[in-house]
Amino acid sequence: MFFTTAALERHEYLCAESNSSRKGKLTTTAKTTNKALLKWVEDIATLTKPDNIVWVDGSPSQYQELTEELVQGGTFIPLAPDKRPQSFLARSDPSDVARVEDRTFICSQRQEDAGPTNNWVDPNIMRQTLFELYKGAMQGRTMYVIPFCMGPIGSPFSKIGVELTDSPYVVVSMYIMAHTGQAVLDALGDSGDFVPAVHSVGAPLSQGEKDSTWPCNPSHKYIVHYPETTEIWSFGSGYGGNALLGKKCLALRIASWLARKEGWLAEHMLILKLTSPEGHVHYIAGAFPSACGKTNLAMIIPTLPGWKAETIGDDIAWMRIGEDGRLWALNPETGFFGVAPGTNSKTNPIAMETLRSSCLFVNTALTEDGDVWWEGMTEELPPYLIDWQGNPWTPESGRDAAHPNARFTVAAAQNPIMAPEWTDPRGVPISAILLGGRRASVIPLVCEAFNWNHGVFLGSIMSSETTAAATGEIGVVRRDPFAMLPFCGYNMADYFAHWLSMPQRTSADKLPRIFYVNWFRRGRDGSFLWPGFGDNSRVLEWICRRVEGENADAVESPIGYLPSPRDIDTTGMNISPSAMEELLSVDIDGWRKEVSLIEEHYAQFGDRLPPQLRAELDALSKRLHQSS
Ligand code: GTP
Ligand code: SPV
Ligand code: MN
Repeated sequence: MFFTTAALERHEYLCAESNSSRKGKLTTTAKTTNKALLKWVEDIATLTKPDNIVWVDGSPSQYQELTEELVQGGTFIPLAPDKRPQSFLARSDPSDVARVEDRTFICSQRQEDAGPTNNWVDPNIMRQTLFELYKGAMQGRTMYVIPFCMGPIGSPFSKIGVELTDSPYVVVSMYIMAHTGQAVLDALGDSGDFVPAVHSVGAPLSQGEKDSTWPCNPSHKYIVHYPETTEIWSFGSGYGGNALLGKKCLALRIASWLARKEGWLAEHMLILKLTSPEGHVHYIAGAFPSACGKTNLAMIIPTLPGWKAETIGDDIAWMRIGEDGRLWALNPETGFFGVAPGTNSKTNPIAMETLRSSCLFVNTALTEDGDVWWEGMTEELPPYLIDWQGNPWTPESGRDAAHPNARFTVAAAQNPIMAPEWTDPRGVPISAILLGGRRASVIPLVCEAFNWNHGVFLGSIMSSETTAAATGEIGVVRRDPFAMLPFCGYNMADYFAHWLSMPQRTSADKLPRIFYVNWFRRGRDGSFLWPGFGDNSRVLEWICRRVEGENADAVESPIGYLPSPRDIDTTGMNISPSAMEELLSVDIDGWRKEVSLIEEHYAQFGDRLPPQLRAELDALSKRLHQSS
């Protein structure tokens, strides 16, 4: 299914011109008889000319060897064993600090299948461009073969991929973020399908040339997806979502394409388990754009007494209709690649606990005693640090010590509040879907969709201020439908239609209710009106009560159902009644302006926009008009 004959032929085409023999020895210890895999590995090696090939077996000893190698090469700085045991800091090249959305391509056969929100290049042209770039790209390096599985090994819902990479940093990161190694090869068997994913930092070494501590290619970066042949080709970057190809490339872009074909959903969502004081369990999925609060919500400690929260996933949810007609969600990852800045023992104590040992950090600052630090970690600034670029830093330096997109990589199993069912291959049944972004104004604290179609409408108009998770300007409001703008592997209008089709796959009352939230509303002085983090449980409580259909009144407004301020339990909080009023009011003028912005947003989809969404927009416009 994934690795077609057509794709194989194309690889032959790729390799035809680069048939000269490789230098150096091949250390092939492949324990697989999968012919398609062996041939593809050989083909890519012929093209990229690595000095060695190493198969990743998934063993702790291989992980250890690789970290030692990374330390010797200067990529990893070991942190002080008494502060942060078994942990390392890497500093990236200053040009390679985040996802590169402008260099990310969906190369479907037809441009209209990629749609107006994706970069597209004719696949034949892209193949030629990449062929030139990959020719000899791994010279002087080792090519690692990483068999990996997104989702539990053996589950019919999981997807196996194989990443070929010349970055040992990527290998150790993939060890944490996905199931890797021999167990995956065993599951693949002789003839199993896999998603082929090629990654090169794009920095070949000539004989004797000294490697840099963060090799990458500052002038050529390509994150390419061929959805029809389910292939991933990434060139020039070693950072996060650009390079750990199981995550955004496979589990979101390729998976979303497959999900549409196969009738399920691959989403940029956290999954949270909540237990009410009465013992009722609710699983909640939430779509928030990059660096807009998924990890934090997935690790929430409720400030409302009696409520308990546990983590299922923090970034990706694969959801399908179960036999009972409900929507079931699975976290396909095994680790967290989370935003470090802003994380501290008050805002996210669970993350701080998770990060006590055995983690990788990238682009944080280094303290004098060999630990990491980032903005927001402590109230008091350390007197002296080494910043993310390796330069001395003091509070007077007037610049960030950690990069705003500094991140941690850590195994989910280290999170003390992982729900035991996070590894259940069936996933968990979702009762509510949250949508949210960073909006200083207009969008209220919480609002419930009238029904499924209206919920899909709210998802389609989601907007958020841009963050440091991607290169480019920060703080600019843009539409980011369902937090999938950078991750939808096909035409976004078809994606909306796919969401709208869900009630036809089950009965509508079995689908989760949809809520639009905004933790980031600001007051006149520019500060956040809502404290966020643990206090978000107060909004979650209202949501759970609504889902249970009891004890939660709602006000019908032009934009959806809103709680009246007294319906949100603010006991013990230091928030003024006027702030609550503002957080839960409908800004009619603001929404009118929003309507014309949504018109513009929708215009790009032309006739492909589902008529139901146009109807929802017209109805919203009418309701706003009537409420003047
Ligand atoms: P990706 O990993 O990029 O997909 O991001 P994410 O959605 O998991 O975002 P994350 O939870 O890491 O939060 C990003 C930033 O937002 C961090 O600096 C957090 O401290 C901050 N943040 C998270 N939740 C809240 C909140 O409820 N209120 C406020 N004010 N800030 C928050
Ligand atoms: C995001 O940007 O949404 C992330 C981080 O989760 S990365 O893996 O780099 O894409
Ligand atoms: Mn993300």
